[in-house]
Amino acid sequence: MNVNNATLLEEAYSFLEQAYYELNHTPERLKERKHEVKDQIEKTGVYEHTFEELQHGAKMAWRNSNKCIGRLFWNTLTVIDKRSATTVEEVADALLHHIHSATNNGRIRPTITIFQPGRIRIWNHQLIRYAGYELEKGTIGDPDSIEITKQALKLGWRGKGTPHDVLPIIFQLDDNEPTVITIPPEIVLQVELRHPEIDISSLQARWYAVPIISDMKLEIGGIDYVAAPFNGWYMGTEIGARNLADETRYNLIPEMAEIMNLDTSSNASLWKDRALVELNRAVLYSFQEDNVSIVDHHTAARQFHKFETNEARAERKVTGNWTWLIPPISPATTHIFHKPYKNTIVSPNYFYQEKPY
Ligand code: ARG
Repeated sequence: MNVNNATLLEEAYSFLEQAYYELNHTPERLKERKHEVKDQIEKTGVYEHTFEELQHGAKMAWRNSNKCIGRLFWNTLTVIDKRSATTVEEVADALLHHIHSATNNGRIRPTITIFQPGRIRIWNHQLIRYAGYELEKGTIGDPDSIEITKQALKLGWRGKGTPHDVLPIIFQLDDNEPTVITIPPEIVLQVELRHPEIDISSLQARWYAVPIISDMKLEIGGIDYVAAPFNGWYMGTEIGARNLADETRYNLIPEMAEIMNLDTSSNASLWKDRALVELNRAVLYSFQEDNVSIVDHHTAARQFHKFETNEARAERKVTGNWTWLIPPISPATTHIFHKPYKNTIVSPNYFYQEKPY
């Protein structure tokens, strides 16, 4: 057996041992499966996961995601096996189905759609994302999307030029020309932001309901699923304290402060902090009023605490990236701030990968 196959076999065994233990399979069944996998790797250089392995592997990968505060729900992940999708039509259908089914009219379902390892790459960072146009007078839309927007335009897509143009999905099969598909607007759930006490209509702020990360690879037992878009629901601060607030994103804090008549001439008036808090209230209030799943950072931290308790009971270690786990507002009000986490990378997991464009 060559070195690559030996490494793959080792990774496969280590995954199978843990997964079959967690799934309460007998030692005989594990042994049998290991034989089968060894056989496949020797003959073909790869092996194929059963649906159960794929499903549990994707869940374990979520459980091992050090940056994620939402891991309490790892075992509720809906896993859609689309390894059989080989044509442009099948892939396009599967992507649109993911958006529709995960959105679920606002009762968001954590979902992953897994395509066959290798042949498919999705260019977008998230399936739903606003375009960003770099103009002389500044940027319109989401500055984070400038590169992918250029790619879409180059491939013939035409945006309206508003701050909230939903980008098309761009994906590539093998080395073929990329396919560009427009998402039917009726399946893109969005929330217009308003505040329970303050009139923020002049901000014209909105955000989409479901964050579906589509540029990371899922690694299970040595197999790389490079196209495996997945989603949870939002924690409010992701939108209110980062996407809408960062100076390098929608940069709405100064406008919010103006609406609130705050004294922006003095840092010590805490105008940034006050504007930030009210913007975040608007996010939580609007999503809740529209019956779109969302969690505030205090509740999310409590849920993470429960996750830590559950994992200890299952005799597993919780790894974490403290710099990501603490929320961007009032971090020290959560227990996470006050303890250390080991940022060890455990497999299965989700990884960044090189951009295909
Ligand atoms: N932070 C990213 C965004 O604001 C989304 C990352 C995934 N978030 C989640 N709640 N599952 O779009």
